[in-house]
Amino acid sequence: MSDTATIQSRVSAATELAANAAQPFEQAHAMPRSVYQSEEFLQQEIDNIFRQDWFCAGRASSVANPGDYLTFELAGQPIMVIRGKDGQLRAQSNVCLHRMSTLLEGRGNKSSIVCPYHAWTYETDGRLRGAPAMSKNDAFCKKDMRLPTIRCEQWLGWIMVTLNDAAPPVSEQLAEVEAMVGDYGMENYHETFFETHTWDTNWKVLAENFMESYHLPVCHKGTIGGLSRLDEMVCPPGRPAFNYHTILKDDELKIAMAHETNQRLTGDRRRTTYLLALYPSLLITLTPGYFWYLSLHPDGVGKVRIMFGGGMSPDYANDPESQAHFSALKTLLDDVNVEDRGCTEKVYRGLCSDFAAPGPLSHLERPNYDFAQYLSGRIPA
Ligand code: FES
Ligand SMILES: [Fe+2]
Repeated sequence: MSDTATIQSRVSAATELAANAAQPFEQAHAMPRSVYQSEEFLQQEIDNIFRQDWFCAGRASSVANPGDYLTFELAGQPIMVIRGKDGQLRAQSNVCLHRMSTLLEGRGNKSSIVCPYHAWTYETDGRLRGAPAMSKNDAFCKKDMRLPTIRCEQWLGWIMVTLNDAAPPVSEQLAEVEAMVGDYGMENYHETFFETHTWDTNWKVLAENFMESYHLPVCHKGTIGGLSRLDEMVCPPGRPAFNYHTILKDDELKIAMAHETNQRLTGDRRRTTYLLALYPSLLITLTPGYFWYLSLHPDGVGKVRIMFGGGMSPDYANDPESQAHFSALKTLLDDVNVEDRGCTEKVYRGLCSDFAAPGPLSHLERPNYDFAQYLSGRIPA
């Protein structure tokens, strides 16, 4: 290896990203390959992003009743969000206080939390209720034992969790989002499906795919591509905690339009779709009639864990055709997802090639440029 090559191989992904992000938007290029492939950069993302920022665990309406719970992993931490018998929603460690087994799996409802290993049993609020055959250990004091709590806030119907006690409140960080789409009433949209998936791509490839609608007419020509015109897409500069763009849908897709009973939205807003990318990894498609979202977490450099959910606005829930609307929506989104999976897995395979090089961005990829700025700010060279 020549000296130059040796030096180049030591340039970190963060340094390459800083150089990429320093370009003005008019000369912007896709992010360097190393940010998608480097194990070191992934660890920096876990430490500087997923351990620091707010992460979306789903919709509050999916844990509406006492004992309803959901589980997930954030930056290597198994976490449960559970509604207590007192009605409070809490995030707490999903790890037993005995020999440290994880406790709950998936989603469901429990009146108490029983460890699957030796049956130590916890109240829904995390207090240890009982433990068999522990009376002879003097060090065991049941009343002092409680699962550690983790910071959790609800915002516009979203459950947001962070491991960082110093993070600004969600409502403060995303106040501009609330002002921008407040008239959609997203807090009342009802989740009708929730799934988890793992795709073979880097988490940022999928996030970036969501951030631009440049790919709609081509990647989605089998589904929504024909409904979205490039010249009707608006991609304003991003903000520190999020980026967004809008598209106008035409009324061939009725469920994307404001329902006739919707008095909140007027003019073109009745057919405007917002694509919100709330950093790091909550991606929301918000239309007047329905919403769907992805909440992403890396699972190694080449895999992404996906929470995928969505549903209709409350105006449609009261429509006599609501069941037909829901199933039309789900069929459509499944088909769209198959197309996105194909495109994002192809990008990951492609960027792993030694012949790959990041190309210039379209003005319709403004949010991707802003995302690179955010990442580079979080992971300085
Ligand atoms: S590890 Fe949970 S009861 Fe033993
Ligand atoms: Fe897509």
